Amino acid sequence: MTISSTLPNSVKIVEVGPRDGLQNEKTLISAEDKISLIEKLADAGISYIESGSFVSPKWVPQMGTSSEVFSKLPRKAGVTYAALTPNMRGFEGAIAVNADEVAIFGAASESFSQKNINCSIDESLARFIPIIEAAKAANIKVRGYVSCVVGCPYEGEIDPQQVAMVADKMYKMGCYEISLGDTIGVGTVASVQKMLQAVVAKVPTEKLAVHFHDTYGQALTNIYTALQQGIKVVDSAIAGLGGCPYAKGASGNVATEDVVYLLNGLGINTGIDFDKLLSAGWFISDKLGKAPISKVSNAYRAKLAETNK
Ligand code: HMG
Ligand code: MG
Repeated sequence: MTISSTLPNSVKIVEVGPRDGLQNEKTLISAEDKISLIEKLADAGISYIESGSFVSPKWVPQMGTSSEVFSKLPRKAGVTYAALTPNMRGFEGAIAVNADEVAIFGAASESFSQKNINCSIDESLARFIPIIEAAKAANIKVRGYVSCVVGCPYEGEIDPQQVAMVADKMYKMGCYEISLGDTIGVGTVASVQKMLQAVVAKVPTEKLAVHFHDTYGQALTNIYTALQQGIKVVDSAIAGLGGCPYAKGASGNVATEDVVYLLNGLGINTGIDFDKLLSAGWFISDKLGKAPISKVSNAYRAKLAETNK
């Protein structure tokens, strides 16, 4: 039983740590360690793992091993291993190594679109059409991201109608789900509510996901707001890894450990084994040589160290 009838009974976690997280970590992680991380996440019960991206390695060197990761990755039944693909070349690279799904990524801000993928919003939408057509022909589902849904590092506040317009276009083009990205983590309950109200007027709520970076520490409250509005898919990154290379100052995604702790407290089912999730976060944090950006994870680790004294 959840504590409120307005909250969902279950939530799907889309784990983006191996992609969104590791793309912005200074320490380069080997393909072997990425594979170990992905396997630990799957073993913890995560059913959707964005495992890499097929972008220019000159732009994002951390993702340069994605082909190797996908080709060597042992797959667990029931888990979707997805890849980010900005263009046809990326799409072809992803399906060559059997990515289960792909994600295309647009933005609600012109300036961010230029900085991130080197084209305007309209040009990006035109680039997505052949990807969606090829994906349909290959029976591969396409997820769509809209970045900068409340704020942009170059333009400041973003008009919710602009977000709704881009989300609607990507949905109508054939994305089965639209993930709304607060790329620089500036959203608050009020701005997120306003943005969601505009988007749900165009795209059905059950086709939406939220993707909060936690730069200003508002991600969990914003997720709670989204859940109250009927959204049941939440993106997060193990150990709060990463950020976006084209959004200076943006911190990592909200930590999966923090989201699952919140959801467990609300009695919302995720199908995730919390202890295994914590271990996965400690594994990658140790590889990166830093503590997780997750208060929950650090609190549990401190408690464990105390018990083992
Ligand atoms: P471009 O320069 O406009 O494209 O880049 P181009 O076609 O002229 O190609 C330039 C070079 O990239 C060429 O190589 C191509 O071969 C190569 P060169 O001749 O210079 O040696 N290239 C590729 N290489 C590998 N894979 C490819 C590919 N395509 C071209 N698929 C491009 C356009 C999109 C490729 C470039 O801008 C790029 O790679 N950008 C990286 C964007 C990125 O990964 N950003 C981070 C992910 S988005 C994000 O984090 C936000 C999100 O999390 C949601 C949120 O938080 O809001 C999703
Ligand atoms: Mg992101």
